Amino acid sequence: MSRVLMVTAEAAPFAKTGGLADVLGALPPALARLGEEVAVVMPRYDIAHIPGAERVWNALPLVVGPHRYTAAIDQVVMGGARYWFVDCPPLYARGQVYGNFADDHLRFGALNIAAIGIARHMFRADIFHGHDWPAGLLPAYLRENLHGDPSFFGTKCVTTIHNLGYQGNFPASVISDLGLSPASFHPEGLEFWGDVSFLKAGIVWSDAITTVSPTYAREIQTPEHGFGLDGLLRARASRVHGILNGADYDEWKPETDAFVARRYSAKNLTGKRAAKMTLLTNFGLPANPDRPLLAVISRFAHQKGLDLIAAIAKDLVEEDAALVILGEGEARFEEMFQEMARDFPDTFAVHVGYNNAMAHQIEAGADMFLMPSRYEPCGLSQIYSLRYGTVPIVRATGGLEDTVDETTGFKFSEYTPTALLDAIRQALTAWKDKKAWRERMRRGMAKDFSWTAAAVEYQKLYRSL
Ligand code: ADP
Ligand code: GLC
Repeated sequence: MSRVLMVTAEAAPFAKTGGLADVLGALPPALARLGEEVAVVMPRYDIAHIPGAERVWNALPLVVGPHRYTAAIDQVVMGGARYWFVDCPPLYARGQVYGNFADDHLRFGALNIAAIGIARHMFRADIFHGHDWPAGLLPAYLRENLHGDPSFFGTKCVTTIHNLGYQGNFPASVISDLGLSPASFHPEGLEFWGDVSFLKAGIVWSDAITTVSPTYAREIQTPEHGFGLDGLLRARASRVHGILNGADYDEWKPETDAFVARRYSAKNLTGKRAAKMTLLTNFGLPANPDRPLLAVISRFAHQKGLDLIAAIAKDLVEEDAALVILGEGEARFEEMFQEMARDFPDTFAVHVGYNNAMAHQIEAGADMFLMPSRYEPCGLSQIYSLRYGTVPIVRATGGLEDTVDETTGFKFSEYTPTALLDAIRQALTAWKDKKAWRERMRRGMAKDFSWTAAAVEYQKLYRSL
């Protein structure tokens, strides 16, 4: 049994912008079920939903370089794991989780200082397990403090990369602002092209580095997917592990989904047909059950390959397929989809925004799910799609490669509109054979990407440290 203290910027259901939150909502309870003692440290955002939180620490001083904050710690216990929320309004009351704020280095630097404070006063961690760049500085702080404080001798650090594209890079001037030693600012340390890189610090000074699928673990060691850190990751290859995420089926399964009017299962798919009709109506598309309905649920970001969809808009009109899109993010993509919906209102319908209920209703109601990502560390939406009998059409990259095969979905390799269109056409042709299609749906619905398997892998890793 290890005592594991995780550090993250988001966790479902408290605060979520993407799959990272899903992981932090499910992995800690899965580890707790295996007997590990797990706690999670994250900010208490003003927009977080934390019913039943209980104050467990009144005044934890956070000293970040020249800055002094005082935080309270609130606790929720979920699935046997403790979630600790760092309540510090000057840092976290901003009306949103991320916002490219000028003091982001302090917001997340302080989070790591809070985690170390918690480990000093409340929870003797054997392992600090940080997720993505917001947790990257932890091993740097630990290492620098070691000389003064023997509490953490023998404590190990794990960094999980959920997305190498977000590195937390800040101008060199933040070094003193963060209370870090200038001696750490060199290419073998946390310096990255003249900047301070939070994620690089995590990679350089962690005892193990994990990422969220085996294929992505290989890809990040190549120049194409390495975002400039591939050389470092190759040099650290023996410490890099790819552990495929699981899916939280308590949250995501059509048999019990509270957001779906008529629940359904692999045995009885009637409810799925009803969900499709509701979805078409809600999105203002022609209520035709015999027309294939494709869906996208996505952060609108460069990573997700959304430009490929715009490039084949006219072809989709000709194929007589419909497409519903839910997402928010970069304005250029919001405008792109809104324009498609304006030009072809019978084919495309878009909802710009973040809406969890709608995400569930789309997973249930669509026939096919599109994920043409440029890169995808794991991807959870396609795993949910499989469970809902919504056949995924994905680009063969990262976790998409590892979770979808030709018996359950459709894949394409080249990052081109033609390759995407070919895959969609194959799917549309296959859809016409209703019996074979239902068999394909059921094969996907029978797949089990449970968290237990993933948690066992993390447990093995903790033990090996
Ligand atoms: P990423 O973490 O890169 O965004 P994933 O596929 O791992 O991609 O996870 C995405 C998660 O976020 C899924 O749970 C998906 O349902 C959810 N999601 C994404 N966009 C929205 C949105 N606009 N509204 C509701 N849920 C969303
Ligand atoms: C990131 C990745 C996504 C992954 C998620 C959870 O947001 O973009 O592929 O599923 O983290 O690990």
